[in-house]
Amino acid sequence: MKPPALLRALLLVVAFGLSAAASAKAADAPAKEAPPADPNETCLACHADASAKDAGGRSIAVDAAVFAKSVHGEMQFKCTDCHADVSVDQLPHAEKLQPAACANCHEDAVKNYKGTAHAKAREKGQGLAATCHDCHGTHDIKRPKDPASRTNFANIETTCGGCHGNDKFVEKAHLPGGNIQAKYHDSIHGKLVLNSGGFPGVAPTCTSCHGAHNIEAKSQPDSRVAREHIPDTCGGCHQRVKAVYDKGKHGKLRHEGNGAAPVCIDCHSAHTIQQASLPKWQLAVIGQCGNCHSDLITTYRSTFHGQVTELGYTNVATCAACHGAHDVLPATDPASRVSAANRVDTCRACHPKANVNFVQFDPHANRHDKERSPLFYYMGLFMDVLLAGVFVFFGVHTVLWFVRSRRAVREKRRNGGSGG
Ligand code: HEC
Ligand code: HEC
Ligand code: HEC
Ligand code: HEC
Ligand code: HEC
Ligand code: HEC
Ligand code: HEC
Ligand code: HEC
Ligand code: HEC
Ligand code: HEC
Ligand code: HEC
Repeated sequence: MKPPALLRALLLVVAFGLSAAASAKAADAPAKEAPPADPNETCLACHADASAKDAGGRSIAVDAAVFAKSVHGEMQFKCTDCHADVSVDQLPHAEKLQPAACANCHEDAVKNYKGTAHAKAREKGQGLAATCHDCHGTHDIKRPKDPASRTNFANIETTCGGCHGNDKFVEKAHLPGGNIQAKYHDSIHGKLVLNSGGFPGVAPTCTSCHGAHNIEAKSQPDSRVAREHIPDTCGGCHQRVKAVYDKGKHGKLRHEGNGAAPVCIDCHSAHTIQQASLPKWQLAVIGQCGNCHSDLITTYRSTFHGQVTELGYTNVATCAACHGAHDVLPATDPASRVSAANRVDTCRACHPKANVNFVQFDPHANRHDKERSPLFYYMGLFMDVLLAGVFVFFGVHTVLWFVRSRRAVREKRRNGGSGG
């Protein structure tokens, strides 16, 4: 099938002549160029091979079909638009290349990403922190609104979880907070997002609370998850709760800049948030109140309500059943649920027959505090004395009984010995 040598020589001459003519023309007028072959084909000549590997054994294969369906492929971008230090005219290219240059075209994203937790970690040499292609992909980048995109609302948990949900990675990179994806996945928010069919904005995914290009460590004062901003971040969706919280003692303290006041996550947690009506959670939150109000949980635990909840039942009064959850106020505040004016109503929610007399019962009676609970104090004292009395009486009684019975046994033996 080879063309005869003469024909080949002829073709060569013609080709040479044509190219000479073309370059002569180019000297005086711009050439009408023949349609250039797709320069990507030049790169793909080596990189389309699915088994192609670099010297280190890492795959350097590029799937042309996948790239064609990516947002950049659809716009017929050149490989060299991103791999800007490679040129089709200078091949073979260097072995080590610069990272793909997203910055050339996506100024805003690059600007926002700078200074975030991930970017700062990278600057400090933590090469495992997320950069553009860790969240977006490389040759398969799709628009966030495309359900197949890694950055689509429905897929963000998995995308962040690639690192923050991978136990081995968490350990290797010393990620703070451990496996956060696992925690979030079982929370009320995680379950809602899973069932929302990817419809954004209903319940929060990672980026709803943290941002995407402006993720900051919680220690940064301007982070959305810095302590002082948490009520605003949660309150962006839970506006009604936030308004109540702001008027309560805890919310007021926060506005005064008092760091000892609880914010949403002190009671609800950040990633394991549960439905508030779950008995298990309602019992657990008593312990959260008790972390800060240690005296009051001690006195509460000595009452009927406190002992029943300690046994794991929620049909009696929890802290929040008497004080409210977000609107806690000092008893001296007339708006408080436990103020003199409101206390009967608060107890009546469960004790329909409660009256002014009934609410004389002190839910925090302290039997060691003579001034606060004189009756309880003296009753306690009486019980102590009674108990001690009982012990002493029966103790002496037992000892005497023992002595007497020993003597009886000995006497019986002596009598038996002499008689036999
Ligand atoms: C002649 C074959 C060949 C052609 C043509 C070729 N490459 Fe490569 N390319 C390689 C090989 C081999 C490697 C692995 C280098 C090594 O051993 O580390 C590589 C590696 C790469 C890498 C990874 C570099 C890194 O630092 O990990 C990129 C990106 C790349 N090529 C882009 C391109 C682009 C863009 C083109 C087209 C302009 C192209 N290549 C054309 C053979 C080729
Ligand atoms: C939208 C930008 C973009 C375009 C366009 C692009 N790449 Fe890449 N490419 C990347 C990113 C990002 C990486 C990951 C490593 C890095 O940052 O350089 C990468 C990595 C590579 C690698 C190393 C192996 C790997 O998959 O990690 C090769 C080889 C490569 N590209 C070849 C190509 C070829 C060939 C084309 C054209 C068909 C192309 N790239 C087009 C962004 C791009
Ligand atoms: C040569 C310019 C160029 C480079 C380099 C480039 N892109 Fe793009 N990218 C575009 C253009 C243009 C669009 C389409 C924008 C539009 O339609 O709003 C786009 C779209 C996107 C989109 C979808 C945006 C949307 O609004 O839906 C993402 C995500 C994206 N690029 C990420 C990247 C990443 C990550 C890199 C680096 C690996 C990169 N791009 C490199 C030009 C570029
Ligand atoms: C930690 C993950 C993450 C990193 C790192 C990241 N992005 Fe994004 N990016 C997202 C998410 C998620 C979206 C979807 C929009 C949103 O949720 O705000 C997005 C959206 C985009 C868009 C669409 C337009 C827009 O701003 O909404 C572009 C373009 C983009 N990113 C480019 C980049 C570039 C370039 C980099 C690197 C400098 C980068 N991204 C780094 C997660 C990330
Ligand atoms: C409902 C809002 C919300 C959602 C959803 C959320 N986070 Fe958080 N995240 C927070 C808050 C608030 C903090 C600060 C916790 C603290 O101060 O202890 C935090 C802290 C973190 C931390 C730092 C942990 C530490 O202990 O230092 C990481 C990492 C993190 N989140 C990643 C994620 C990832 C990944 C997801 C998705 C799987 C996610 N978050 C979902 C609100 C959220
Ligand atoms: C490629 C792996 C990777 C991906 C993907 C990733 N991260 Fe990270 N992230 C890290 C590493 C590593 C750090 C630790 C940086 C350091 O050492 O300070 C970090 C730090 C953080 C922090 C700061 C924690 C603190 O308070 O100190 C937050 C918040 C966070 N990531 C959230 C996210 C969210 C949300 C996503 C998804 C949109 C995400 N990350 C995707 C690797 C990743
Ligand atoms: C001092 C502890 C505490 C703090 C702080 C707190 N909560 Fe609650 N929250 C509770 C308790 C207890 C319940 C259960 C109330 C009930 O059973 O009536 C609850 C219930 C809820 C509910 C479901 C019931 C409803 O009223 O819609 C939401 C939503 C909620 N909290 C969000 C928040 C948000 C957002 C913040 C921060 C602005 C916050 N919480 C601060 C203890 C707290
Ligand atoms: C993007 C909006 C959004 C953000 C941000 C958000 N949530 Fe939610 N949250 C929801 C939705 C939607 C539900 C389910 C509907 C409901 O019960 O209100 C929910 C449910 C809850 C519940 C259970 C409510 C119940 O009825 O039992 C609690 C508690 C809760 N969120 C607390 C928080 C806390 C704390 C934060 C901040 C760390 C937060 N949320 C941030 C949207 C959000
Ligand atoms: C993070 C710590 C913290 C948690 C958790 C917490 N509180 Fe508080 N609470 C405070 C502080 C600080 C004050 C102000 C105390 C003061 O002014 O002496 C306060 C004030 C109060 C007050 C008003 C009494 C007063 O002296 O002003 C009540 C009632 C109250 N808390 C009940 C609760 C209940 C009920 C819970 C659980 C649902 C709870 N607290 C959880 C820190 C906390
Ligand atoms: C049966 C209802 C009830 C329960 C349950 C209850 N309290 Fe109280 N609490 C009260 C009443 C009534 C007062 C006011 C006592 C008084 O007259 O000084 C009070 C007082 C307080 C005060 C001081 C308020 C002030 O103005 O000085 C705090 C703080 C408090 N309780 C926290 C708690 C915590 C934390 C729990 C759960 C561990 C709890 N309470 C359980 C009814 C209750
Ligand atoms: C969330 C419901 C609930 C609230 C609110 C509540 N209790 Fe109770 N309490 C119970 C239940 C249930 C019992 C055990 C059954 C019973 O005795 O009625 C109980 C038992 C008691 C007992 C011991 C048993 C008895 O009947 O002698 C006293 C005293 C008591 N409550 C006082 C109060 C006072 C005072 C208040 C208001 C400050 C209050 N409770 C608010 C549910 C509640």
